[in-house]
Amino acid sequence: MSASRVRPAVEADAPAICEIGNEGIEDRLATLETELRTPQERTRWLEGRGPRHPVVVAEDGGRVVAWGSLNPFSPRDAYRHVADFSIYVARSHRGKGVGKVLLARLVELAREHGYHKMVLSAFPFNPAGMALYEKLGFRTVGIYKEQGLLDGRWVDTIVMEKLL
Ligand SMILES: CC(C)(COP(=O)(O)OP(=O)(O)OC[C@H]1O[C@@H](n2cnc3c(N)ncnc32)[C@H](O)[C@@H]1OP(=O)(O)O)[C@@H](O)C(=O)NCCC(=O)NCCS
Repeated sequence: MSASRVRPAVEADAPAICEIGNEGIEDRLATLETELRTPQERTRWLEGRGPRHPVVVAEDGGRVVAWGSLNPFSPRDAYRHVADFSIYVARSHRGKGVGKVLLARLVELAREHGYHKMVLSAFPFNPAGMALYEKLGFRTVGIYKEQGLLDGRWVDTIVMEKLL
């Protein structure tokens, strides 16, 4: 991903973040979410982020092609050193190294913010996601069998972690 850069998200990125996230929801490979977001909802979501929960975007030729975020794992104080994260690359830009650059930046940011570990929950049948997380040093904690009901079918979810 040579002609691109990763930078903090700003309010004007909400429509692109919305569109890219909705592609991920529609593809049924990324999340148990099924309701599409709106740019207005994503604007409010961006406004509500605290300093320890940044959102970053990757640009290619001036266009936002991916976004990622560090999310609270749990509101309980004991979990304050654990970051959950999200990562979504536009369909048009998948498989070109964008996800790797973005996740490397999220790992860097998590370290800068003093987190002790990063965790994720994903679908084990998402080959790009599995390859990306393993490449970046995440290990499998375990698999929840039939954890979600998606379009009338039970789906497993995989839990992974990386100590920072
Ligand atoms: C999952 C996702 C974030 C990965 O980002 P990406 O930009 O497509 O992945 P990259 O091109 O950076 O590839 C990362 C590694 O995974 C491998 N990979 C990418 N796509 C792959 C695929 N479909 N099958 C197998 N391996 C794949 C790459 O070869 C690369 O490894 P390498 O460095 O050894 O070559 C992206 O595809 C995406 O946003 N998908 C839809 C939403 C989603 O699934 N989000 C994750 C939710 S858990």
